[in-house]
Amino acid sequence: MLNKEVNERLCRVGPEQPMGRALRRYWLPVLLSSELEPNGEPKTVEFLGERFVAWRDQQGRLGVFAEHCLHRGTSMQLARAEGDGLRCVYHGWKFAVDGQVLDTPNVADPQFKHRIKGRAHPVREAGGLLWAYLGPRDREPEFPRWPWMDLPDANRLVTRHLEECNFVQVIEGLVDSSHLGLLHMNGLRQAGGTDLGFAQKVSSMQHNLAPRLEAEEAPFGFYYAALRDIQDDQGSRTEARVAAFVSPCIVLNPNGDIATFVVPMSDTRTAFIHVFWSQTQQLNRDPLRSRHLEFIGLTPQVLDAFGLTEDTLGRVDRPGPHNNFMQDRQAMRSGESWSGMPGLIEEDVAASVSAGPLRDRANETLSASDIGIARLYRALLSCADVVEMGSDPLGIRRGVDWSQVAGTNAVLGARRWQDLLPQRTSEKEPA
Ligand code: FES
Ligand SMILES: [Fe+2]
Repeated sequence: MLNKEVNERLCRVGPEQPMGRALRRYWLPVLLSSELEPNGEPKTVEFLGERFVAWRDQQGRLGVFAEHCLHRGTSMQLARAEGDGLRCVYHGWKFAVDGQVLDTPNVADPQFKHRIKGRAHPVREAGGLLWAYLGPRDREPEFPRWPWMDLPDANRLVTRHLEECNFVQVIEGLVDSSHLGLLHMNGLRQAGGTDLGFAQKVSSMQHNLAPRLEAEEAPFGFYYAALRDIQDDQGSRTEARVAAFVSPCIVLNPNGDIATFVVPMSDTRTAFIHVFWSQTQQLNRDPLRSRHLEFIGLTPQVLDAFGLTEDTLGRVDRPGPHNNFMQDRQAMRSGESWSGMPGLIEEDVAASVSAGPLRDRANETLSASDIGIARLYRALLSCADVVEMGSDPLGIRRGVDWSQVAGTNAVLGARRWQDLLPQRTSEKEPA
């Protein structure tokens, strides 16, 4: 339970907010690489409560600009794409992707353009994603190199969808193992009958609805374990599923080959990025790609139908709070569906979004099933606190070896779940 003041501190992401300042200390993914063509149209993106224009020049270099032109604020969304730069349509000032001013045709002094600089932010491209850093330039952290970034594109499947609520309540669903056997009951049942590796790893969760939950702090956030005593036709055993929360908005799924990024667009809108990867399989090639997306519910058709894309978010003809998410009550009564939602993603979206655009935590009732939630609040609030005190937030100050941070799962036997972690995270000394 959090009072209103603490809840706002936890959730608000704008540049003047404590959490907004903490979030700006990290490299965060903004778009998929595939969303920007060389010299294509500029694309407006909402990110941490501000608006930007992203664009890729003819050479493939990426730029993320403040939305409004340096001169007198016309939107760069309207700008002309001219190969080496974006040219504002109002007075023709032209900006390269790094903010260099290439031309100011309405100013006679040819030196003027050298005295000014466009508002472009540091960017990177890695792992099929475009990343930006919005924080103070002298505090720019090392770019996190995750092992999956080095795989060929064919072995990595990256998706992005949007949800109309605050980012914290979306992350909550990712450190909340006990909802899987209930909310996703139908999906888990189907998972038993498919040969998809992803599905097989989660199927047995349906046999224990109340896992024991434990968590342990880590330099980047925390590990979170769900322990299920399972009895089925294969005998009795304890299965452990261990997720890693990586500050400020990453959860590494216990399947071991899924990373999820929950990126705040505004206080009440969130971009949800999935990265699935495989060392051996070409997940990003059909037919595997389509089958994978279909099982999870991330096909373009599903995202469009449920209003989870830029074009459909918040539309009244799509499922939402105004029409009870078009829940199929008939299917619930007949026993065909637990939730009345068509699939896993729709179930998660309805659960998160129906709690309200920025959910009230003053009246919640946390239980033993919510250990991950309590840890999440603590980890995020600590980031806001330390940044406010002038220090570096989790995962930045001490540096982390990202190749040693992962989600994992196994039958425990005589081991403890902590023994499953790739290696205990090595920490570099403070600089
Ligand atoms: S407002 Fe953009 S060039 Fe004048
Ligand atoms: Fe879920």
